[in-house]
Amino acid sequence: MIKLSSVGSLFAILFTITTISCTQPKPKRVINFPETNLVEENLIPKPLEIISTNDGFALDKYTAIYTSKDVEGFEEVGNFLADKIKSKTGIEVPVNIDTITTIETVINIRKSDTLDQNLPEAYQLHIAQDTITLHSSTATGAFRGIQTLRQIIPEMSNDTLTKNKVWVIPTGKIIDSPQFEYRGAMLDVARHFFAVEDVKKYIDVLSYYKFNVLHLHLTDDQGWRIEIKSWPKLTEIGGSTEVGGKSGGFYTQEEYTDIVNYAAARHILIVPEIDMPGHTNAASVSYPFLNGNGKTPKLYKGTRVGFSTFDTKKDTVYAFIDDVIREVAAITPGPYFHIGGDESLVTKKKDYIYFVNKVEKIVQKYGKRMIGWDEVANADISSSSISQHWRGKKNTQVAVSKGMKIIMSPAEKAYLDMKYDSLSKYGLDWVGHIPTDTAYIWTPESYVPLKSIMGIEAPLWSETISDIDELEYLAFPRAIGYAEIGWTVQENRNWEDYKVRLANQGPFLERMNVKYYPSPLIDWKTKQGMQKIKK
Ligand code: ACM
Repeated sequence: MIKLSSVGSLFAILFTITTISCTQPKPKRVINFPETNLVEENLIPKPLEIISTNDGFALDKYTAIYTSKDVEGFEEVGNFLADKIKSKTGIEVPVNIDTITTIETVINIRKSDTLDQNLPEAYQLHIAQDTITLHSSTATGAFRGIQTLRQIIPEMSNDTLTKNKVWVIPTGKIIDSPQFEYRGAMLDVARHFFAVEDVKKYIDVLSYYKFNVLHLHLTDDQGWRIEIKSWPKLTEIGGSTEVGGKSGGFYTQEEYTDIVNYAAARHILIVPEIDMPGHTNAASVSYPFLNGNGKTPKLYKGTRVGFSTFDTKKDTVYAFIDDVIREVAAITPGPYFHIGGDESLVTKKKDYIYFVNKVEKIVQKYGKRMIGWDEVANADISSSSISQHWRGKKNTQVAVSKGMKIIMSPAEKAYLDMKYDSLSKYGLDWVGHIPTDTAYIWTPESYVPLKSIMGIEAPLWSETISDIDELEYLAFPRAIGYAEIGWTVQENRNWEDYKVRLANQGPFLERMNVKYYPSPLIDWKTKQGMQKIKK
């Protein structure tokens, strides 16, 4: 029970905050801002609608952030923004403080149920001279909105307008919401293992560009990377090596949970993939009864595909799969569970269909929605399961005809592990080269009708990369383009316009210490270059 006196003080605080947010505080100082143009900011992904009012908002040591406090997640979004402002500018912006005597400008992050675009990730940003108001119906929408705000805080302060340093934010209005509900990246931690810290760094950059899913490909022929408490040899034996033969590694369930929570704080869902019935050599080496290819399984350090399969006829195999899915589902709060299902080249077709049908039921039993690579559409699966298009156009047509939703990852456009060109240091080329423009210039709806598309995902297979620098070389800049394809409607996407906005991501990528591939198609801007222009 809330006591009456505390209700009174709650009203007093709410009144103070509402007063700050609803009435324009009279600026105690007048700043003559240089003309700004919000429309020309280098935002990625490009928002739905931008209107410029050509004035400035002064972000400085007199700025404070206020958020809705009675709605879960909004205060955390405010704190996240304050933290990012501090690392970009050095300014400590207080969040939800009571004393307001020194405050000149306010960033309000508020729940609103009356937006034109009342979708879970929609937001509106109004930037006036002394108040920024960010409205969304959810904390997730507010989180997407603060990424936009982070992108328009200039790299450098203006030191000539007042006695203190001011970061001038252009004024105007942004109305925004994503085209697709699913905007994913996939990381293969099975061919080479990536440490928790590497995965977190990848998540940090993905969240800046409004991705909302990280799919972890946790198991393959070369390695099993997630602890299963009821089957410990999976990681003891199956996790012990990787491509090339170095000792691999795995996530304990606590480490996996740490990744899930870190992603959740950035409004990113983790989708776990246990690939089966093929790509299962590491599991079969650990527990040979699982094996269905008639050979004695041995640890594998190469990069061939398609030689392994579970034995699809044994009840004990399904009991094992039940344990694995139960344990992984229990530590995965998101609604999806990916069962792989690709390249099961040594599984008979009828056995493959029988297997996928049975595994789909196990996934559903543990309350998850199944995703599988496009081959799974050939089984008798439910229209609520999801097919991930990578190669098989016929498979994807079957999925569409069954009413399934599709995640678009066409290899020839969206595979981050393809080389950029013949000079690329890492990457494969079985589907050709994917330079930065090819990665950007395509539309998911040219493959299947828009209404069947749940979203897009950019897979990064790790046969040729073994550390975070190599990961970043293949992922960036192409992943930034996939972020825009997932978020921004086709009419608002244009390579010539995008490549200028991409060039201006240089200082952010530098600040994040991202070792991106400096594509020669892009006239990259650097922080040092910008400082020279200023002098
Ligand atoms: C895949 O690239 N095997 C899905």
